[in-house]
Amino acid sequence: MTQMEAELGALRAAAAERLSAADGVDAVEAIRHDLLGRSGRLTALMKNLGLAPAGERPALGRLANEVRTEVQGAIDGRLAELRAGDLDERLAAEELDMSAPARSIRVGHLHPVQTLMRDLRQVFHAFGFEVFEGPEIETDAYNFELLNIPPDHPSRDLWDTLYVAEPGSIEAGDSRPAADGTILRTHTSPVQLRAMQALDAPIRVITPGRCFRYEAVDASHAFEFFQVEGLVVDRDTSLADLKGMLEEIARALYGRDVRTRFRPGYYPFTEPSVAFDIGCLVCGGDGCPACKRTGWMTILGAGMVHPVVLRNGGFDPDEFQGYAFGMGPDRMTMLRHGVSDIRLFFSADVRFGSQFAEGR
Ligand code: PHE
Repeated sequence: MTQMEAELGALRAAAAERLSAADGVDAVEAIRHDLLGRSGRLTALMKNLGLAPAGERPALGRLANEVRTEVQGAIDGRLAELRAGDLDERLAAEELDMSAPARSIRVGHLHPVQTLMRDLRQVFHAFGFEVFEGPEIETDAYNFELLNIPPDHPSRDLWDTLYVAEPGSIEAGDSRPAADGTILRTHTSPVQLRAMQALDAPIRVITPGRCFRYEAVDASHAFEFFQVEGLVVDRDTSLADLKGMLEEIARALYGRDVRTRFRPGYYPFTEPSVAFDIGCLVCGGDGCPACKRTGWMTILGAGMVHPVVLRNGGFDPDEFQGYAFGMGPDRMTMLRHGVSDIRLFFSADVRFGSQFAEGR
């Protein structure tokens, strides 16, 4: 046996052994490079064929070709084997259990304050009220002046106002309220005027919406909150109608047994004005921290629409009367669910919100 024959034989055996030990596609490609690459061992051997004695060349050439074909075949075979193994592994790993129960779909729900406002809308709808909405960004005129609250009236202190700055004044280091009176509305009462100006009598509307006040935030005060205003304007309506309506609404919301009472109140845009209380839902009227030991909780302010406001809305107070009320759905929601801190409503914490899934 010539030396070249021996080398070819050794290479053939080594290739088979290395290939069966190769455990990945990369390892096989490295072997291909080692043996068949441009400076691979088999390639080098074949280049040297010319140095063999002329008589041996044909036989050596045949043997070399045979080895090369065999090595190539073995490489391709091993690659196919490894790839099939990968697939088997993946099929096993990615197996789908068609009998597994489906993952439940999490459906969202209303915020608890929105749920309460939806319930309010339904109750008022049954009493013939429609929804009439006004803008959150208001003017001083609608928020105050047309509601019979002149610029320097002390009652303005009741509504700590967030002003919109005069354009450019902040940049100039001299921030001041916009000269055109643009503010964030502090209550939904301005919508009384907008409704009176837009609608003909008889008017029966509620005006739910967001309000803003410059408040020190604590467990019972937020700088943004909701109100639902009610307004009725008709030719023959009285304080007795207001009282009857509010008592019915309290029963619809809190049950037939709810206790109610009216107290005198003060608002510049209603005359007379009242505060409306219900028996404390927490202690049932015995007195507890939630009702400040009075047994009562105030849920809204109300009154007969002031003649000046009726006139500003385009109605003759000698011919028309109206009553109005404003309630706080945030506080009502706190009462409904025993929530002790109003800030939770604005916390965007799903652990809090997801407890109120009844609002579907
Ligand atoms: N706007 C009043 C407030 O924010 C509530 C109110 C509305 C009172 C309508 C009387 C009539 O406190």
